Amino acid sequence: MRAHEAGALHGNDAAPTWLPYPADVNALIPGLFSQQTRRGDDGALEIGGVSAHAILQQVGSPAFVIDEEDFRARARAFKDAFETAFAPLNGAHVSYAAKAFIATRIARWMAEDGLGLDVCTGGEMAVGLRGGMPADRMTLHGNNKSDAEIERALTEGVGRIVIDSLEEIDRVADIAERLGTTAHVLLRVTSGVEAHTHEFIATAHEDQKFGISITTGDALTAAEDVLKRPSLHLDGLHSHIGSQIFDTHGFEVAARRVLALVKRIQETTGRTCEHLVLGGGFGVMYNTQHTPSTPTALADSLAEIIRIECTDLDLPFPVLGFEPGRAIAGPSTQTLYTVGTTKMVELGPAQRRLYVSVDGGMSDNIRTALYDADYSCLLASRTSDAEPAVVRVVGKHCESGDIVVKDEYLPADVHRGDIITVPVTGAYCYSLASNYNHVPRPVVVSVADGEVSPMIRRETEDDLLARDLG
Ligand code: LLP
Repeated sequence: MRAHEAGALHGNDAAPTWLPYPADVNALIPGLFSQQTRRGDDGALEIGGVSAHAILQQVGSPAFVIDEEDFRARARAFKDAFETAFAPLNGAHVSYAAKAFIATRIARWMAEDGLGLDVCTGGEMAVGLRGGMPADRMTLHGNNKSDAEIERALTEGVGRIVIDSLEEIDRVADIAERLGTTAHVLLRVTSGVEAHTHEFIATAHEDQKFGISITTGDALTAAEDVLKRPSLHLDGLHSHIGSQIFDTHGFEVAARRVLALVKRIQETTGRTCEHLVLGGGFGVMYNTQHTPSTPTALADSLAEIIRIECTDLDLPFPVLGFEPGRAIAGPSTQTLYTVGTTKMVELGPAQRRLYVSVDGGMSDNIRTALYDADYSCLLASRTSDAEPAVVRVVGKHCESGDIVVKDEYLPADVHRGDIITVPVTGAYCYSLASNYNHVPRPVVVSVADGEVSPMIRRETEDDLLARDLG
């Protein structure tokens, strides 16, 4: 039984060891909510000056709620921190990774705030362009780009194409030649480093679909091949090692291996790689287990790594590029759900779990089912004096793995009609959403200064039936 100052009454073995018994189950866990989130005088949660009740009255439930100021402040914090830290070297650029979450308004914010945009499909590129992101600030990724995607990128003037395989070199070169243009390219190389959360693996083999291997010599061959094609300009190299990473050790090993390749390219071809993009992957806090760094601490530590490695190899400092997605979008957003049914399940003598069913689920947040991700939640419609109960927040889908929040405490009197919020759902939730069980995708709104502005409207049954040809 878990120890607690209030005694055995509060013990519940259903809670995992990492989950602290809350001193105040109504309190917002510090660091978990967007900057403009607080409890209003009536106890209801307020985001950007609007209560959770008012938001759902206006746009319905469930709803993804983006705190505009928070989103943009995070984006600017990354841009400023990296530009400042790398100024004494040769500078750095920050692009927002659209895959985390994209809409035309997000593209506009990022354009206004001076970031670039990393896109990995024609669809993401189209949203970026429609949102007013200047094409030359966009980078097209993808391990299986279609000819049409490459052609559109070149016609629109997309800044860079990241070449992901040896055979893609000729494809991009041929299309650029046909269009009478020069494609600026980066080579995505695999350093053998794979990092997730607190762990990273650095091995010689790279058993995954992205990039061109450094260890097999393919990356050097690729650089030579690019330099042979007049319609291609080799801007530099790209390396992305993983996602939800908390320390810079994996980046350090990857940077060392990639810079060693820059050196070999220079020795073999006489050409310098001016740009080095180290991807994204910076971790965020989903619950009390996570302790992310600040953008400044990350930038300072990465700049120091690049300074040391380039000095050791006697290389000129490249211009660095970074592509954070999750760390900008994730913490700015929360999902408001309405509780439908609750069910207490007795698991043993000191084990019980309150199942709280909400009006969404794995169709708007697949991360719990797909990655075993841990989320938190909070009663948003009111405060409560009830004892904290161990809850599992589940959705409305016909599947027992339809879990949104595996383990958290909520007041035991949480009931039908209550609003609960799940924080840090801004990255890879809406962008991975589905229509499983023909559940329409939720609305996405941004809030700022007391105003709710719908960003992507809720899907309707008519939307779902529109493509059904009978
Ligand atoms: N750049 C490249 C080339 C990437 O492949 C990614 C993510 C990023 C940047 C942005 O990484 P971030 O800063 O967001 O970690 N669906 C998974 C994450 C997949 C990440 C794919 N690539 C999840 O929900 O955890």
